[in-house]
Amino acid sequence: MDVVSAIKSRQSIRAFVDKPVSNDIIRKILDAARYAPSGVNTQPWHVAVLRGEVLNTLGDKILDARAAAVADSPDYQYYPSEWFEPYKSRRQACGLALYSALHIEKKETDKRLVQWNKNYRFFGASVGLIIYMDRRVETGSWMDLGMFIQNILVAAREFDLGTCPQAALAEHPDIVRQVLKLDDHYAIACGIAIGYPDMTDPVNQYRTDRLDIDEFTKWYE
Ligand SMILES: Cc1cc2nc3c(=O)[nH]c(=O)nc-3n(C[C@H](O)[C@H](O)[C@H](O)COP(=O)(O)O)c2cc1C
Repeated sequence: MDVVSAIKSRQSIRAFVDKPVSNDIIRKILDAARYAPSGVNTQPWHVAVLRGEVLNTLGDKILDARAAAVADSPDYQYYPSEWFEPYKSRRQACGLALYSALHIEKKETDKRLVQWNKNYRFFGASVGLIIYMDRRVETGSWMDLGMFIQNILVAAREFDLGTCPQAALAEHPDIVRQVLKLDDHYAIACGIAIGYPDMTDPVNQYRTDRLDIDEFTKWYE
């Protein structure tokens, strides 16, 4: 697959067929991802590859915490506390696209919760990755991490795999550190679900909008 096709065909996949992804393929994806650029080549990324029991245990513990109303305590703030335009509308459109595909209305909060909680099972993917990084590095390294993550998502396309980056897995970092036996100086950035997509599932049958180039670009000539 050519690079542009791989980039453009990537979409967040939230339902997977029951077919395992081999560690050999995961290694090939990570082998490509590690060529991401990073400031002064710090390569600050760390990856935990989860499957089977540990993946289930992590999901159980996070879901238990959420059922007990344990507050989120992410290692970094992803979103603004107060949404403002134009991001507020884009966020709403994103949620609307997902729940419309599933025929779930706004008032159906129980159904929304069921869908959201699938995050903590990596949407049924056979492999879940946790991306983490030494919390003592500075803001710039989060750019490096983003490039590494995108490399994973794009490289997965070469193997007909679908992915979903998941900030949801970073909402309870203490649980992630405890289950994975990670030292406290690691910040949990996100999860990534990886598996063979189930394209018959409506959750995978819509695409999110994009701005036109000229809506985000100024040309100086
Ligand atoms: C860092 C990051 C974290 C995300 N976290 C979640 C998540 O926790 N759950 C989820 O369903 N989607 C998550 N997404 C997916 C976004 O909703 C998705 O990328 C966006 O709507 C654009 O759609 P697309 O990925 O299909 O192009 C995340 C995306 C990124 C980049």
